[in-house]
Amino acid sequence: MKQTARRVNDWRFGRQRRRLIIVGLLIAVVGLSHWLTPVAGNPFHVVHVSLRKLFILPIVLAAIWFEFRGAIIAAAVVTIVYLPHVFLQWSGNLTENVNQMGEVATAWIIALLSGFFVRIEKTALRETARTHEGSLVALVAALDAREHETQLHSLRVRAYALRLGAELGMNPDQMRVLGQASLLHDIGKVGTPDPILLKPGPLTDEEWEMMRRHPEVGQRILLSVPFLRDSAKIVYSHHEHYDGTGYPKRLSGDQIPFGSRVFAIADAFDALTSDRPYRKRVSCGETQRIIKEDSGKHFDPEAVRAFLRISCAEWEQIDREVAAAPDFLGVGPSNPASGG
Ligand SMILES: [Fe+2]
Repeated sequence: MKQTARRVNDWRFGRQRRRLIIVGLLIAVVGLSHWLTPVAGNPFHVVHVSLRKLFILPIVLAAIWFEFRGAIIAAAVVTIVYLPHVFLQWSGNLTENVNQMGEVATAWIIALLSGFFVRIEKTALRETARTHEGSLVALVAALDAREHETQLHSLRVRAYALRLGAELGMNPDQMRVLGQASLLHDIGKVGTPDPILLKPGPLTDEEWEMMRRHPEVGQRILLSVPFLRDSAKIVYSHHEHYDGTGYPKRLSGDQIPFGSRVFAIADAFDALTSDRPYRKRVSCGETQRIIKEDSGKHFDPEAVRAFLRISCAEWEQIDREVAAAPDFLGVGPSNPASGG
């Protein structure tokens, strides 16, 4: 996996580690309680027998979280934890040993079945996400082609925003929504006529009025698509400024959705580092200076600080990666880039 994509996905590792700990702890707790509860000849034997059924829980969780391989590893660990009990606490009792080996077999059957079904379901979900992704990218490329020389503007802005979101520690859901909103931020411009959108000179008041409707039109479009609904709020506020001088609502500070504040930097960064008909591109170092100067005015200071922690070499690397493979962030139901 490319370096940048790995960084963008860093947030996933913390979540996976937590899940691994939960599965491990469950096996340890069930194993220990099972060892400690009395066996035959004691009225609490029923608790002992019931506890061993709970070994199924970490196996199914491992299947859900880590798919087929996770379920198999969980079943192997359960077997290792369970077998000493079978042969030490029931040594010499062949009938009981055989009976308890049936429990081990059950654990393995459940691991195989749950791992298999989760794999089928996740593959189907990934396929759906890939289809959504393909449709959105095609739509956005058409929109970009109308206004920009390149069709990569929205894809680059998405990659920049996700990198910044990862730097700010956004959670997986926030990342997914941020990715969608960044890709679709200007979708409302479908409603802006060409003579206004492509006008080389300054716009009249009336034309500005029309231009400024695109966040609201974008919001309306996204609200009508169930899997894009969450990104509507970010799109609606993507032209707000931190100091309250933006549009459409002149929101300020925390009133602006966090995703919109992160997006604003990614969008400005791409605008400044791209050639425009009326000016040449600005260097990354100069762009950093401009964005820093606008901290607290156009941009959220916290997001600016995170932006400045990322080196120009890395931004340039992201730019190259998007140009080489626009979908380099990959897709998947839990991937930040999915659906966006
Ligand atoms: Fe816009």
